[in-house]
Amino acid sequence: MGQIARMTNIKHFLDIDILETADLRQMIDLGLGFKNGNGEVLSLAGKTLAMIFEKPSTRTRVSFEVGMKQLGGKTIVLNHDDMQIGRGETIADTARVLSRYVDAIMLRTNLPEKMEELASHASVPVINALTDRSHPCQLMADIMTFEEHRGSIEGRKIAWVGDGNNMAVTWLHAAMKFNFELSLACPAELSIPRIEVQKATAAGIKLTETQDPLEAVAGADCVVTDTWVSMGDKPGGWRQNLLEPYRVNEMIMGQASSDAIFMHCLPAHRGEEVTSEVLEGIQSVVWDEAENRLHAQKGILVWCLG
Ligand code: CP
Ligand code: NVA
Repeated sequence: MGQIARMTNIKHFLDIDILETADLRQMIDLGLGFKNGNGEVLSLAGKTLAMIFEKPSTRTRVSFEVGMKQLGGKTIVLNHDDMQIGRGETIADTARVLSRYVDAIMLRTNLPEKMEELASHASVPVINALTDRSHPCQLMADIMTFEEHRGSIEGRKIAWVGDGNNMAVTWLHAAMKFNFELSLACPAELSIPRIEVQKATAAGIKLTETQDPLEAVAGADCVVTDTWVSMGDKPGGWRQNLLEPYRVNEMIMGQASSDAIFMHCLPAHRGEEVTSEVLEGIQSVVWDEAENRLHAQKGILVWCLG
């Protein structure tokens, strides 16, 4: 647990763009091993994960709780409003205190700076379970899912259609590490932050940006979208109007490769970002994607703590 001596060697899982590809691959392989029954089952016996939620969650909460239990460990779920951080205790102090009790801390929050503050003051691994900037746990499950269905993602074309949100940015991070082509179709007003594009371009990834969904998905091996209103966004007619042409429907899927798959991190809003026909159609792998949160995160947990 929280010992200063470990502070320099802590294996945080903060963002895909700052992790090494070999480590990311190791986590996915570990997760696949657990899924396929080859892994050591109780490798986290005696370990406790604290999970802090400042935003709602279904998949993340349940998959981390079940994953820790399957590995022999325990979880403590902490809701922001029930903690002293809800009354002004700093994240830094919370990090130092929790590090004396638990073996890892997971956080879902709004500002990426809070994740940074937690990690820089914790003496145990910190896992990013979503910020307004990124959602790396989800992307690990997404890579696993793509590869289970279509083989290695390297060199393949992924098309993002919709809001340039935290999931879109995380796909960009993944393109840098897993070496696939990314084609983004977002309205200009909702495009992903320029700083993220600059970093990805500097890293040499094959990236195209367009406002035409049909152009983005042409020949794609996978079409991905997400909600039009992320947690923390103000819902409003203007977002809806801007995103209306970006709904993933059968016509859009028809422009992708004939064996393209459809992915969505969920929760989905049928009739908004995706039609029921596509979400429930034969190209959709969204339920496998949701299941793989469990397996991929077991890989992340063992990499952080094992
Ligand atoms: N995809 C995802 O992170 O879902 P939850 O918000 O339900 O955790
Ligand atoms: N972009 C969504 C992802 C939810 C898992 C959000 O941040 O609300």
